[in-house]
Amino acid sequence: MCGIFAYLNYLTPKSRKEILELLVGGLKRLEYRGYDSAGVALDSCDGKDIAVIKKQGKVQALEDEILKNEKLDFDETTLSHVGIAHTRWATHGVPSEVNSHPQRSDIEHSFVVVHNGIVTNYKEVKTLLQHRGYCFESETDTEVIAKLVHHLWTQHPNYSFRELVEQVIQQLEGAFALCFKSKHFPGECVATRRGSPLLVGIKTKTRLATDHVPILYGKDDFPLKAKEGDTAPQDHRPHGRGSDLPIIPRSDSTSEFQPLEDKEVEYFFASDASAVIEHTNRVIFLEDDDVAAVKDGALCIHRLRRLMDDPHAREICTLKMEIQQIMKGNYSYFMQKEIFEQPESVVNTMRGRLNFRDDSVTLGGIKDYIPEIKRCRRLMLIGCGTSYHSAVATRQLLEELTELPVMVELASDFLDRNTPVFRDDVCFFISQSGETADTLMALRYCKGRGALIVGVTNTVGSSICRESHCGVHINAGPEIGVASTKAYTSQFISLVMFALVMSEDRISLGNRRLEIIEGLKNLDNLIREVLKLDDKVKELAKSLFQHKSLLIMGRGYNFATCMEGALKVKELTYMHSEGIMAGELKHGPLALVDDSMPVIMIVMRDPVYVKCMNALQQVTAREGRPIVICEEGDKETIALADRVLEVPKTVDCLQGILTVIPMQLLSFHIAVLRGCNVDCPRNLAKSVTVE
Ligand code: AGP
Ligand code: GLU
Repeated sequence: MCGIFAYLNYLTPKSRKEILELLVGGLKRLEYRGYDSAGVALDSCDGKDIAVIKKQGKVQALEDEILKNEKLDFDETTLSHVGIAHTRWATHGVPSEVNSHPQRSDIEHSFVVVHNGIVTNYKEVKTLLQHRGYCFESETDTEVIAKLVHHLWTQHPNYSFRELVEQVIQQLEGAFALCFKSKHFPGECVATRRGSPLLVGIKTKTRLATDHVPILYGKDDFPLKAKEGDTAPQDHRPHGRGSDLPIIPRSDSTSEFQPLEDKEVEYFFASDASAVIEHTNRVIFLEDDDVAAVKDGALCIHRLRRLMDDPHAREICTLKMEIQQIMKGNYSYFMQKEIFEQPESVVNTMRGRLNFRDDSVTLGGIKDYIPEIKRCRRLMLIGCGTSYHSAVATRQLLEELTELPVMVELASDFLDRNTPVFRDDVCFFISQSGETADTLMALRYCKGRGALIVGVTNTVGSSICRESHCGVHINAGPEIGVASTKAYTSQFISLVMFALVMSEDRISLGNRRLEIIEGLKNLDNLIREVLKLDDKVKELAKSLFQHKSLLIMGRGYNFATCMEGALKVKELTYMHSEGIMAGELKHGPLALVDDSMPVIMIVMRDPVYVKCMNALQQVTAREGRPIVICEEGDKETIALADRVLEVPKTVDCLQGILTVIPMQLLSFHIAVLRGCNVDCPRNLAKSVTVE
């Protein structure tokens, strides 16, 4: 989720100072991704050990720590060397020195590893390794990787470094980009990925003679015919395979490293190009399950299995981008990037929790408290701004699947009212940052009254995390834009998963649960579909950006989208905007409607469809010219609309995830057209730590 940077110099003399500057410089380039701690590993002065330096907080703090280190001889020069570095965005275990990366196999640092992502089966692997005598020092999922490679090395001392890593990833489930260094394989570096990005940068003095690095496949492997369902390699593996550690046959490793013509070479492994572009513009983007290994200055890319259409080589691309451009990918703003990241971030929220093979849902952070939660008097969901809206969006489903009274509260108002709270209440505190003062105060207020406190945050180790009894980490990855986008959809999904957990043993709700799980399974594809509306939304923005006000109407499951859409418009564009409950229209807001007032209406074919259609009629009868967000192909609704944005259909209770995206895009485009600062709107901060 955060950043990897590794640097290997071969026959290119570098002082330890230069190497550290390179590593820390690489991390600084990745800083924009947001992180909570950082660390590096490099060879120690005697060359026999690996020095690991880690620090919680900013890369600057790590740099200061490095400079303080008296054991490192900064001036010593090495001809060939491997250094690995990491910025962490915690998913398992609070940000702390021991949880930072590199993680190590043992105190001797036989193997060290940096990891981005989440290993979802780490518990099974950990148990197995504990049975084999391994003691764990951190709370991270990553530590199992370091220990597992060590275990395999003790079992198979003849294996190459690349082969060991290949065995390791066969045992892992989840998402990862990994970079390994080992005392037993000096001068070698092995990197691999599945689901998290990783690239290799190559720097040589002379031009490279080739634009491709051949891919080598497992020795006894032949092109396999792609079977149905062969989409992702992990699909082949039975669940929890980590418990038996089968060993895959070795390949012939003697000739796999093809040296480059240029003997002096430097390699960079990084999560994104921003960290390597100042050194080289020649990069290879690794694909899922590629294992890239460097030995004696030669790079090899290996894959265990070959499918019919697999290529023979990976292209060495030439980057033509500026650093600023790379940081934001193909996007101009972080907010825009985060909107477009949602197909991946929603999957990360579900990863390791929703098992589509047996339709089960496990929320590890609250599992032990479920019996207590089921006995509670009521659920209270408390948050501010967008986080509050995620509670509004899921309230109806929570009521349906838990059959408990559900109160949804703005933290500030909740405190103002001195709301009665009891020991048998369960209070959820929803917060992207986990630091919002109002939400935190409300948490302390409820905790003081004996309620069970559940945190739902995106920031492990935040105040809300620490002060909760239990919680759900939404795993959306760092959100940089002040306007919350991907955190909202991930909060939404986290609460839906909680509702599913609460109804697991309710036979009468079985079909409803299955329908929702099916909906969640396909959500990323549907989000991709909605994102294709971007150009259309941009055109719409052109017709709206000079207006003073924008009304957004809807009801039922989509009312939260109206409020969230209006908040996005306000904070980003400084226009007036209001989310209106369509049922309230005739009680006042209808007076605002005429042919010049921009109105957006959300009309979905759900239980309130007819009522929404009535509202639509009321608006058109007042000469309103509504822009309608509706279901694909809903001719009846489209006939009444002035303009229309059609989104794909999903289960009613998840539809709000798809309807909010056009609103995120619209507010973004209006903000750009009005010349507003998209990522840092005036007067606002990402984390509101004052009341
Ligand atoms: C969202 O776009 C806003 N920036 C704001 O409403 C935000 O959601 C609110 O301040 C709560 O923040 P939190 O989720 O970090 O607690
Ligand atoms: N899951 C790992 C951890 O919590 C890696 C997180 C990251 O991607 O930074 O340590």
